[in-house]
Amino acid sequence: MIDQPQIVTPRLTLRRPKLRDAPRIAALLNNFEVTKNLARVPYPYTLNMAVDWLVRQKRDWQPDSITFAICDAGGLMGFCGMHREGPDAEIGYWLGEPYWGKGYMTEAATAVIDWYFSITGARRMVSGVFYFNAASLAIQEKLGFTRTGLGKRICLAQNTDIDHIETELTRDAFYKALETL
Ligand SMILES: CC(C)(COP(=O)(O)OP(=O)(O)OC[C@H]1O[C@@H](n2cnc3c(N)ncnc32)[C@H](O)[C@@H]1OP(=O)(O)O)[C@@H](O)C(=O)NCCC(=O)NCCS
Repeated sequence: MIDQPQIVTPRLTLRRPKLRDAPRIAALLNNFEVTKNLARVPYPYTLNMAVDWLVRQKRDWQPDSITFAICDAGGLMGFCGMHREGPDAEIGYWLGEPYWGKGYMTEAATAVIDWYFSITGARRMVSGVFYFNAASLAIQEKLGFTRTGLGKRICLAQNTDIDHIETELTRDAFYKALETL
């Protein structure tokens, strides 16, 4: 697929990442309060790491292998994306700390999930949170995700395996949840 998708919501534009996003990503991700919640993001987080990551974001994409930069008029605030986890697509996301608590990730994740279900025949996706991440679990439960178990995942920033609540979202549960959001 070569067209670069873009999603517009009432307050946000979700667009594909660009190499020039590197300094902004590095500034927002070099924060343990953000990275301690993420599996694969080290801390400290450097500009070189951001550049390396951006170089690996291929221009060609698939619905289950894509990242969207979450932006408003002030610029890039975070990311929401899909990657493949076994047979399923897994959604992951983060926002820079200044942007927390304003409903932005609910808005962004809703839009990405709707986009994913709209362009694929998938009936299910997965996600999960480290056991202490109440805000992320609240978002997922609002959107219709349910818990499927407890596992362990590496957290690079904390350099250890951490209890991870596994979740899944069915297409039906998502569109039912949207009716009451
Ligand atoms: C988790 C994160 C994405 C949340 O983004 P956000 O834009 O602040 O989230 P929203 O405002 O859309 O929604 C958060 C919800 O969690 C709720 N919440 C926040 N803190 C909570 C807590 N301690 N306990 C329970 N619910 C909580 C909020 O009330 C809100 O629900 P509501 O809209 O029903 O009131 C953001 O804090 C973040 O990026 N954190 C660091 C990275 C991360 O954790 N990524 C996810 C990894 S699984």
